[in-house]
Amino acid sequence: MKVTVVGAGNVGATCADVLAKNQVANEVVLLDIKENFAEGKALDIWQAAAINNFDTRVVGTTNDYSRTAKSDVVVITSGIPRKPGMSRDDLISTNANIVKTVTSEIVKYSPDAIIIIVSNPLDVMTYAAFLTAKKPATKVFGMAGILDTARYKAFLATELDCSPKDIQAVLMGGHGDTMVPLPRYTTVGGIPVTELVSKEKLDAIVDRTKKGGGEIVNLLGTSAWYAPGAAAAQMVEAILKDQKRVFPVCAMLDGEYGMKNIAMGVPVKLGKNGIENIIELQLNTEEMALLKESEGHIKGVMDVLDGMNLF
Ligand code: LAC
Repeated sequence: MKVTVVGAGNVGATCADVLAKNQVANEVVLLDIKENFAEGKALDIWQAAAINNFDTRVVGTTNDYSRTAKSDVVVITSGIPRKPGMSRDDLISTNANIVKTVTSEIVKYSPDAIIIIVSNPLDVMTYAAFLTAKKPATKVFGMAGILDTARYKAFLATELDCSPKDIQAVLMGGHGDTMVPLPRYTTVGGIPVTELVSKEKLDAIVDRTKKGGGEIVNLLGTSAWYAPGAAAAQMVEAILKDQKRVFPVCAMLDGEYGMKNIAMGVPVKLGKNGIENIIELQLNTEEMALLKESEGHIKGVMDVLDGMNLF
């Protein structure tokens, strides 16, 4: 099995490192536009093989897409990250061009690959990659929900002083401040979270989750990478091992939740065919209203993309 990670920045390199450490694939190709950068990162990861006990080959290349040929899964992390004071949406004019170029190169050399988008603004970049790749929506989708849910679980685990492993949760909508965490679908060791945390505390955790990416940007001056890289690697693993795991994923919708021609976070089953199916929850009126608000926000960013006349 072969995986390509485009973009050897913090998120891409972390993703490649996790894929190698967990021996998810036989070969991981790391590609970057910056001269020698991917080569250096890949060599460093490969030199950890004897220490971390893996045999996944990790190689780097400066923009030579022929090295990515016949990849089974491709993770696209290319683009600029945000700086303090920026929203993910501010990145669109730079990143839309990059995602379009990268996706067409990838499809040229790996026509059958499943493509996972990580570049921001995530939902609209997933839409842009879908338009570029001209593949079924089951094969082009984005990573955000696993990351946002992991942040939500981390905050809950801190509050409850429990293991994050015991928290089950789902989060929907866009990867931004309008994301929709769903306390009604959150359990801790099977116990509804509402029985363990007061409404006031839960509201504060939901709010912190929505702004979770920004919290890191303010602390570091750039966006996060450990959790985003690990989240993308977890999606790759679910696909390559045909695990049929249920995750929130940024998927193109075709009538699900009453929405069409938009990519946003919904629970799906991930397996060897990519998105095996989208799960439609019975949302209540309040949850549906929040999802609609998120849809409206994403549509606003899609209008900016339309104005760029790239497609
Ligand atoms: C974040 C970026 C990667 O949420 O979108 O940290």
